[in-house]
Amino acid sequence: MNNPSNVPEMAVVLAAGLGTRMKSALPKVLHAVASRSMLGHSLDAAATAGVAQIAVVVGCDVPAVEAEARTIASQTQCFVQNEQKGTAHAVLAARSAFVNLEGIVLILCGDTPLIPADALIALREALVAGADLAVLGFEAVDPSGYGRILLDAEGRPAAIREHNDATPAERAIRLCNSGVLAVRSGIILASLLDQVRPDNAKSEYYLTDIIAIARARGLATALVTCAEEDTLGVNDRVQLARAEAVMQRRLREKALLGGATLVSPDTVTLAFDTKLGRDVLIEPNVVFGPGVTVEEGAVIRSFSHIEGAHIGRNAQIGPYARLRPGAHLGENVRIGNFVELKNAAIDEGAKVNHLSYIGDAHIGAGANVGAGTITCNYDGFDKHHTDIGEGAFIGSNSSLVAPVKIGKGAYVGSGSVITRDVAPDALAVA
Ligand code: UD1
Ligand code: MG
Repeated sequence: MNNPSNVPEMAVVLAAGLGTRMKSALPKVLHAVASRSMLGHSLDAAATAGVAQIAVVVGCDVPAVEAEARTIASQTQCFVQNEQKGTAHAVLAARSAFVNLEGIVLILCGDTPLIPADALIALREALVAGADLAVLGFEAVDPSGYGRILLDAEGRPAAIREHNDATPAERAIRLCNSGVLAVRSGIILASLLDQVRPDNAKSEYYLTDIIAIARARGLATALVTCAEEDTLGVNDRVQLARAEAVMQRRLREKALLGGATLVSPDTVTLAFDTKLGRDVLIEPNVVFGPGVTVEEGAVIRSFSHIEGAHIGRNAQIGPYARLRPGAHLGENVRIGNFVELKNAAIDEGAKVNHLSYIGDAHIGAGANVGAGTITCNYDGFDKHHTDIGEGAFIGSNSSLVAPVKIGKGAYVGSGSVITRDVAPDALAVA
């Protein structure tokens, strides 16, 4: 993968903060950006950088955070930090995971969803090039609140001073700590952390103190920089909205450069995993939830809402269509206005053009489903399947009471309530 050095590596993700400013019942790191949790984005960056082992430090709601982490990295270990005594204290909660590791430990935060894998790769490269400890920094437009990175004469980090502990001269420094750093070995990291004392304005154990401690031991430090935007931290919902805006801009650019047309990009909401083929056309005001693939040449018209769906080549969707999870559309399918699909396979060239609900169903190639047709898939207890054969014609305003099968080429008259199977090529009027 992206780890050419073959050195064992572990990422420790700090996610124990209470996140009180989110004013939410949901743990902060589970709030979503582009349909994926912030924790998921951090873990994905680590995974993309080729880091195999993950430890997450969790405060409350351990099962929920652990379950989410395991969707991205199945081997994730969670460690509980019961009391919030600072970032060094948080890393120490995972001490047993890295104390004997003769390999790199990367430390990142669970609430910085925009961190690119490239930044993590650059930190690793600094270590491979000879540093014992590498810090990811950035030039802040407004540095207040951040820890400032103090450099030595050679431009290497000598210490990090937290805002509250900084002198006026130090506060004028704009080079700030992103919160992400990497240490050459877990054994070294553990011994550095053991030396951290809570002698500061907040009486907390600061992870950032390990830079000065490392230097006092004669270890080599290195600085890696990234754009300020990459390190955006989320503490409240204003910042969450800001992170979403940045992520959407990045996803839209990727979609456009990949050959899709977004007529009004700013009005299209994408998910982290939306896949748009070449020459796909997206009209204004379309929302994509997770798990959508759109094949080449398909057109998605305005005000459609799509999640968990596969849209075949040259299909046309909407305007005002709703595709829910399990909608699988073949080539040249037409789904028109005010049509809702759920768990339904629609084969090549079939049409559902107006005002229909199709759930738990299969529609054969070339079939035509008239306006207002409903699959009655739920009897109050269970969901049942509807099968519409190839080339069948369902007249307007029909109710298909599942389980039911309409044969190939059959014709169902308008306004029918179909409760029994219809044979191939038969005419059913009910
Ligand atoms: C930290 C850095 C600061 C840096 C800034 C970047 C320290 C001491 N300071 O400050 O240099 O500029 O991030 O955003 O590290 N956490 C725990 N347990 C704790 C405390 C924190 O898990 O006991 C987690 C938080 O959930 C968060 C991360 O650690 O994900 C950072 O903690 P936070 O309190 O936000 O640190 P800052 O004060 O922002
Ligand atoms: Mg913070």
